[in-house]
Amino acid sequence: MENYLASSSRYDSMSYRRCGRSGLLLPAISLGLWHNFGSVDVYNNFSRIAFRAFDRGVTHFDLANNYGPIPGSAEENFGRILRDGLGAYRDELVISTKAGYDMWPGPYGNWGSRKYLMASLDQSLRRMGLEYVDIFYSHRPDPETPIEETMGALADIVRQGKALYVGISNYNPEQTERALEVLRRTGTPCLIHQVRYSMFERKMAESLLPLLDREGVGMIAFSPLAQGVLTDKYLNGIPENSRAAKTTGHLRREQVTPERVAAARTLNEIAARRGQTLAEMALAWLLKDRRVTSVIIGASSVAQLDDNLNALQNTSFAVEELAEIEAILQQAQPKA
Ligand SMILES: NC(=O)c1ccc[n+]([C@@H]2O[C@H](COP(=O)([O-])OP(=O)(O)OC[C@H]3O[C@@H](n4cnc5c(N)ncnc54)[C@H](OP(=O)(O)O)[C@@H]3O)[C@@H](O)[C@H]2O)c1
Repeated sequence: MENYLASSSRYDSMSYRRCGRSGLLLPAISLGLWHNFGSVDVYNNFSRIAFRAFDRGVTHFDLANNYGPIPGSAEENFGRILRDGLGAYRDELVISTKAGYDMWPGPYGNWGSRKYLMASLDQSLRRMGLEYVDIFYSHRPDPETPIEETMGALADIVRQGKALYVGISNYNPEQTERALEVLRRTGTPCLIHQVRYSMFERKMAESLLPLLDREGVGMIAFSPLAQGVLTDKYLNGIPENSRAAKTTGHLRREQVTPERVAAARTLNEIAARRGQTLAEMALAWLLKDRRVTSVIIGASSVAQLDDNLNALQNTSFAVEELAEIEAILQQAQPKA
């Protein structure tokens, strides 16, 4: 689609949450471009997903240098989406990218050195055709690089005007505490922490939430649908064309465990009682906690995106429902 024009009703139904104690509001549901936006995917499909998302108030698009495949292609494709019309709304968009995983050969294309972060963001900006991103993340902690160097690079990137805010991702509570302290000293406080969080994977997020809340840092949940396992997709086996079936997907068949499928079936019944799909209920269950600023979903079709956005119609749970869900989640935990 060329010359996209946004819907005039785009702000009618989305809710926006304050990111920690910052000035920035994020949509309760954000769109991630880790899968479905690469060079192996179809432009007409994923551009429609992005346009539809913005039409429904999704102002936040999450990328990283390595998203694809091939690495870098999601940013290139997002650049094309911006050129095809979304970019006209640049001041209504919060675009994030990250560096931290393996991106180019040699010693300077990975982890958390100043050398890597600075060069990687320049490449990301070129691929997307942007002058700045809204949020730049250290994608993972680097055990070999002093935290002062990694955080110092983030703060300098903001000073250079190439990012407005900074964030961290995949840092455990101890690493988070140190990163927040170092960033505070630079005068560029950490805006947000991006954490894996779903009904099936709760441990890290639950250990971080009290700390982030106390420090006034936002929390954004990734893979909130456990890459699709918390939808009705895998209730009766692994369908063709699903992330678990594709060779380019990061969901391995063995992650679709019998315990999780059994739990998803029972959760699906509770969702139906609530008048929701399982995907909607899984997102609502995360969003019931006001400390969660946003959940970043992935979608391989407009229909999935629409389903997920409908989660916002009901994010409250009765105490009995929560207890029933908790019992199911306990059962689904991998046996130690
Ligand atoms: N910071 C990090 O280290 C990190 C790591 C991972 C992800 N992330 C971010 O989080 C974003 C989301 O991650 P994710 O893609 O794993 O999220 P997810 O929402 O848990 O999974 C998305 C996948 O689930 C399936 N799906 C989504 N909605 C559905 C629905 N309503 N019904 C049926 N199936 C549905 C689709 O897979 P099919 O292809 O099978 O249809 C879709 O691609 C990423 O794009 C990225 O921005 C960050």
